[in-house]
Amino acid sequence: MKTDFYRKTNDREFPSNLTDYDEMYRSFEWKYARKELDWFGDKLNAAYNAVDRHTHTWRKNKIALYWEDEEGNQKKYTFEELSVLSNKLGNILKDFGVERGDRVFIFLPRIPELYFSFLGILKIGAIAGTLFSAFQEQALADRLGQARPKVVITNKELKSRLPRVKHVITIDTEDFTKSLEHASDELHIAEMDPDEYAFMLYTSGTTGKPKGVMHTHRAILQEHMTAKWVLDLRDDDVYWCTADPGWVTGIAYEILGSWSCGVSAVVYAGRFDPKKWYELLEKYKVSVWYTAPTAIRMLMAAGDTLVDERDLSALRHMCSVGEPLNPEAIRWAVKVFDKPFHDTWWQTETGAICIANYPCMDIKIGSMGKPIPGLTASIVDDNGHPVGPNTEGNIALKPKWPSMMKTIWRRPQKYESYFAGGSPRSSSGGAGWYLSGDHGMCDKDGYFWFIGRADDVIKTSGERVGPFEVESALVSHPGVVEAGVIGKPDPMRGEIIKAFVVLGKNVKPSEQLKEELSQYVKKHLAGHAYPREVEFIDKLPKTRSGKIMRRILKAKEMGLPIGDTSTLEEY
Ligand code: WTA
Repeated sequence: MKTDFYRKTNDREFPSNLTDYDEMYRSFEWKYARKELDWFGDKLNAAYNAVDRHTHTWRKNKIALYWEDEEGNQKKYTFEELSVLSNKLGNILKDFGVERGDRVFIFLPRIPELYFSFLGILKIGAIAGTLFSAFQEQALADRLGQARPKVVITNKELKSRLPRVKHVITIDTEDFTKSLEHASDELHIAEMDPDEYAFMLYTSGTTGKPKGVMHTHRAILQEHMTAKWVLDLRDDDVYWCTADPGWVTGIAYEILGSWSCGVSAVVYAGRFDPKKWYELLEKYKVSVWYTAPTAIRMLMAAGDTLVDERDLSALRHMCSVGEPLNPEAIRWAVKVFDKPFHDTWWQTETGAICIANYPCMDIKIGSMGKPIPGLTASIVDDNGHPVGPNTEGNIALKPKWPSMMKTIWRRPQKYESYFAGGSPRSSSGGAGWYLSGDHGMCDKDGYFWFIGRADDVIKTSGERVGPFEVESALVSHPGVVEAGVIGKPDPMRGEIIKAFVVLGKNVKPSEQLKEELSQYVKKHLAGHAYPREVEFIDKLPKTRSGKIMRRILKAKEMGLPIGDTSTLEEY
């Protein structure tokens, strides 16, 4: 295979933060990064590092957040203002009896309150959980039922979807406005052991309910270093990360790692819209942009004239995450922006970027790049044995790295299942490998290439969706007996969700019913997790033990050979 390169020229006048990847990879140890953060002896607080420490420097009155919504409302906040507002929020939570280790969930659209709530929760030592505002009652019940938060912070509109929880803070009420006004702006910052929990995110695997991935305060170390090395953030940057904090990217690179680098961040609380996005890039003079392949493909489809009409001369560095970044998207970017997107690979569980293309390194177009300094990545077989160059296997990481998840909330077995050869918590002490669930390969130059998921997890428009959740939602419809759900390759969205549905005996299949089922999932589970395609089927392929064989549904859908069916029930 001929490899296509995007060659970098070294800019002597404005060298990137990381100037020599190979040298840094050889010599770096995490202890050298300690001085990048503010510590209280051996303790630290991630939110303090993201925001408050800047208030003791010249950045105090620097804009930390430029916020804008679809209606054109605009707000901006300095680091000092974010610090004060999050202090107040912390004090309000304390009045609700929130203590260190309690869970506090945020169920809000991307409004400023989301950001200072998140910071306030961490500052008092509680654990922040974020929920997409697209979640409907089933998704919320699964997550909140398991996490059992003491408080959920929401607004009037979203509140009605919530299950019963201990306390609810509704931010668009007079009560809240008053308590925010009256709350003290002085807060004692909780000095946390680096291994104490800071935030949690529910994410999906192949089977079962979503799992609560737990992250610690130490994670900010890697989030900070990667924001510096990979996103190349500097003081004069205006940085726009298009992710929602309901997703790990929005936490690590819209709140913690990016603000820790002292950058001014843009948050747009609106739907995807190419015209609007280019307008924002121009208006805020965005210099560093972090987005996802589906958005890039949609921008591509919207045409080059939209770009040509704008002055995007401030834009100097662009990165992408969440799904495979196709070579055409990079070539298009070079054509219209005169620079490529830099692919980055990581997961909710890894807590920060792990494999990336760096501003100082040539890009092999189509590759995800190389592991960050301080991290060993490899391709291993299912038993954790490295397979050598150019051979397909599991993308695996050597524990521990600073932002590695600490556990899965109340499901220690699930946590163990990620490791071949023992987790850091097991008696092996982490001698094994963390298996990502992704297949890939590594070439002889050490570049990693993504091949596909090893399991049935769906990635649609960059969102991670568990087929089981969608199947459960479908089955709760009175007309449905069984459902099997797969990700069907889609040129724009990476994958779309397709459901194979077995209807009840007396239920008549129709186009209308298909639409009804789609809408049903949208309404009960989540706006982004509904099947765009529904197909009725008489019987689902299953193993003899009754497990749905999604891989067979997928093979059939794609007209591929069905493979080994020896464990299959007669089909
Ligand atoms: C996929 C996202 C190809 C992968 C921060 C991974 C990618 C899952 C890439 C994690 C990439 C992420 N190329 N695939 N650069 N980055 N993925 O937890 O399958 O939402 O396991 O975290 O996204 O998704 P998650």
